[in-house]
Amino acid sequence: MREKFYHIMTFGCQMNEHDSEIMAGLLENMGYREAPKRSDADIILINTCSIRENADKRFFGSLGQLKRLHREKPGMIVGVCGCMMQQEHIIDAIKKKYSWVDLVFGTHNIHELPELITQILNERQKVVSVWQEHRGIFEGLPAKRRYPFKAFVNITYGCNNFCTYCIVPYTRGRERSRRPEDILKEIRELADSGVREVMLLGQNVNSYGLADGFDMDFADLIYAVNEIEGIERIRFMTSHPKDLSDKLIGAYRDCEKLACHIHLPVQAGSDRVLKRMNRKYTRGSYLELIRKLREATEGRIAITTDIIVGFPGETEEDFRETLSLMEEVKYDSAFTFLYSPRPGTPAAEYEDQIPEPVKHDRFERMREILDEGMAENNAVYEGRIEKVLVEGPSRKNRKTLTGRTESMKIVNFEGRPEMIGQIVPVRITEAKTYSLVGEVMEWDTRQ
Ligand code: 5AD
Ligand code: SF4
Repeated sequence: MREKFYHIMTFGCQMNEHDSEIMAGLLENMGYREAPKRSDADIILINTCSIRENADKRFFGSLGQLKRLHREKPGMIVGVCGCMMQQEHIIDAIKKKYSWVDLVFGTHNIHELPELITQILNERQKVVSVWQEHRGIFEGLPAKRRYPFKAFVNITYGCNNFCTYCIVPYTRGRERSRRPEDILKEIRELADSGVREVMLLGQNVNSYGLADGFDMDFADLIYAVNEIEGIERIRFMTSHPKDLSDKLIGAYRDCEKLACHIHLPVQAGSDRVLKRMNRKYTRGSYLELIRKLREATEGRIAITTDIIVGFPGETEEDFRETLSLMEEVKYDSAFTFLYSPRPGTPAAEYEDQIPEPVKHDRFERMREILDEGMAENNAVYEGRIEKVLVEGPSRKNRKTLTGRTESMKIVNFEGRPEMIGQIVPVRITEAKTYSLVGEVMEWDTRQ
């Protein structure tokens, strides 16, 4: 029998990336292989994101491009999944304008993928199967991971926070946590298979276990992962400031494997805006967390964030508070966003929406401050020796290797292919705004 191939296109966050790894695992178990190129595929899946409007637009653009390929290749299955499919108006649009799409499923029933495909193949008909709500956590799903040496591990799913701009609580449902024993078993198995770095994933990892009444909280989980032999680095994403505990801050002191970095989305620097966003913390309490994190790590911790500009009602004065907060914290990096109204969220209904040109102007000003802070932070690295987890050849120059420091900074350096997947010491020779350049130190392969 001829080999069958799949191709998955992924939009959005790490959760989606990991969901795509699981879909790839399920397809491989059915005998499919990754297609060398998209046009070779028998199954194409698009895993979508709803976080901002341009993600929606890019999805419909990609789908439009697939129409011809689908027509020219009889038997090819095109499926769409992910956050956008949890919204009724999107499913309606697909049924009306893209009725040639063979398969639609949602974020809660990824595990059903093999059955859905078998159904399409046997019955030669389209399948739409979207669960409106989650029906528990499905353990034991396979995953075809992108890297053999670092892995995403889900610890919570969904979100209970309902920030007024955000669609996620509607597309991913209520927060639930995986049992500690399931998480620790997965990480032990990953370590045995050669994984060195784990990224614990959740919309808000800080509330891990609380809604489910576990006797282990997020900090306890970090301490437990720190004990697993073979794991060398622990990361997590994302962390809501309102639930960041002193106990977790203490873990930075005690757990040598916990990477000295935190991604702590601030979103805005003005209390008035934070309140309207329903973030449940203040500028003051956020800055106090930063102070404690720096104190616990003797100033070593790298801090990254998410910032939205142009939230409804944001005045010039509010915006300046965001800029001044950025100057005060001096972030190591940030994901920066123009506010994008999402249908179905409270903020999309607010009457005081900000005109696009104002949003763009603020965005540019914010980027300048961010770049200044990043360049200043990176300059401190010159001359330092950093432990770098080598990820592979650099995208720009295949002869150079690229990797990340504990603080998540990208380092490019000359090296040998056998260094890929290892943590190697690199002396930083040059700091740029977005990356570092270095030279590898004496390195023993037996390390
Ligand atoms: N508009 C702009 N940015 C948004 N984010 C979430 N929803 C929106 C929106 N409607 C950003 C937030 C969040 C990140 C994942 O995406 O900053 O932390
Ligand atoms: Fe969205 Fe807020 Fe939940 Fe993050 S915490 S996923 S921004 S609702």
